[in-house]
Amino acid sequence: MEDELLALQDEAGVELASVVDNNALEQFRVRYLGRKGLFSGLMRKLGQVAKEDRPRLGKLANEIKQNLEKAFTARKEILSRQGSTDSAAFDLTLPGRCYPFGKLHPVTQIMDEICEIFAGLGFGIAEGPDVETDFYNFEALNIPPHHPARDMHDTFYINDKVLLRTHTSPMQARIMENNSPPLRFIAPGKVYRCDSDITHTPMFHQVEGFLVDHKVSFADLKGVLSVFIARMFDADTPIRFRPSFFPFTEPSAEVDIGCVMCGGKGCRVCKQTGWLEILGAGLIDPEVFKKVDYDIDEYSGFAFGLGVERIAMLKYGINDIRLYYENDLRFLGQF
Ligand code: FA5
Repeated sequence: MEDELLALQDEAGVELASVVDNNALEQFRVRYLGRKGLFSGLMRKLGQVAKEDRPRLGKLANEIKQNLEKAFTARKEILSRQGSTDSAAFDLTLPGRCYPFGKLHPVTQIMDEICEIFAGLGFGIAEGPDVETDFYNFEALNIPPHHPARDMHDTFYINDKVLLRTHTSPMQARIMENNSPPLRFIAPGKVYRCDSDITHTPMFHQVEGFLVDHKVSFADLKGVLSVFIARMFDADTPIRFRPSFFPFTEPSAEVDIGCVMCGGKGCRVCKQTGWLEILGAGLIDPEVFKKVDYDIDEYSGFAFGLGVERIAMLKYGINDIRLYYENDLRFLGQF
C-alpha cells in the first residue's frame, strides 16, 4: 500500500509537469483527485490493511493528497499567469520574442574608423602589450631614468622595471627592432595614466602611427595627417600645427583642429580658443633610431599619437569624456 501511494505521487508529479493548458489540467484533476480518481481508489483499499498499519498509512495518504492538491493549485496559477486557457489560445503566427542586438562601444567604432582610414593609406596594423617594460615605454624613446619628461606621464608602476604603458609609442621601438625600413605602421591600443577630469580618464585609447623611409620630411607628416583629418571630420576642417616637445621627436608638434562644437568662435569645450588638440607628432629623433641600429644618415621618419576618446568626443559632440566609461546604456545606445 505504501509503495502504491508513493508511486502514485511520483506518477502524478511527472504528469502535472507536462500539463500546458487548462483542458489537460482538468483531465489531470479528474484522473488523480476526482471522486472516482486513482487516489480515491487507493483510499478505499485502506480499509483492507492490517489494523496496526492503518494510522501510519492514513497519515501518509493525507500528506500525499495535500501535496498533490498544492501542486495542482500552483500549476493552475502558473497557467493563468501565462494567460493560457486552452491550447487554442496560443497564436502560433505571432512573431517570437526578439532580444535587442548589442552594439560596438562608440570608442571602438571610432577606433575602427581611424584604423580603416590609415589602412587605406597603406599603413599596416600592429598591437603590443598593455603591461610594458620601462625600457620600451621610456628608455627606447630617449627618456632615460630621471628625465623630467617622465613627470608628464603620471605612470602606474607595477614594479621598478614594469608598468602599464602610458602611451602607444613603445610600439615604435618594438616594431623597428624586428623590421627594416621602409616601414609604415599604426598601433592602436589601451594606455593608462593616473589622471581623471572631463577630458582625461585613467584608461584611454591611442593610435600610434609612424613611417620610416629615405628622405621623409615634415611635409610628409603634414600631408598624411591632413588627409586623415579631412576623412575623419569634414574636408574643410581647419588644422593647426603648434610647436611642442616630445623627447622622441624633433621637431615636435601638437595638432589642433578648429573647434567642432562652436565652429571656431570660442566655447567652454575649446576654452574660448576656437581650437582643440587631438594629437602629438613630429619627426622621429635620431636617438630613437640609434637604439634600434638604424643608419641615421640613410633613414628619417615621422610619428604621431592620437587620443581616440578625444576624437570620439569631437565627432559626437560629447563634452565629458567620463560618459564613455559609466556604462549607462541610455548613453551608449545612441551610437
Ligand atoms: C603622447 O602620448 C605621445 N606619445 C604622442 C606622440 C606620439 C608624440 C608620436 C610624438 C610622436 P600626449 O601625452 O600629448 O602624447 O597624448 C596624446 C593624446 O592622447 C593627447 O593629444 C590626447 O588626445 C590624449 N590624451 C592624453 N592624456 C589623456 C587622458 N588622460 N585621457 C584621454 N585622452 C588623453
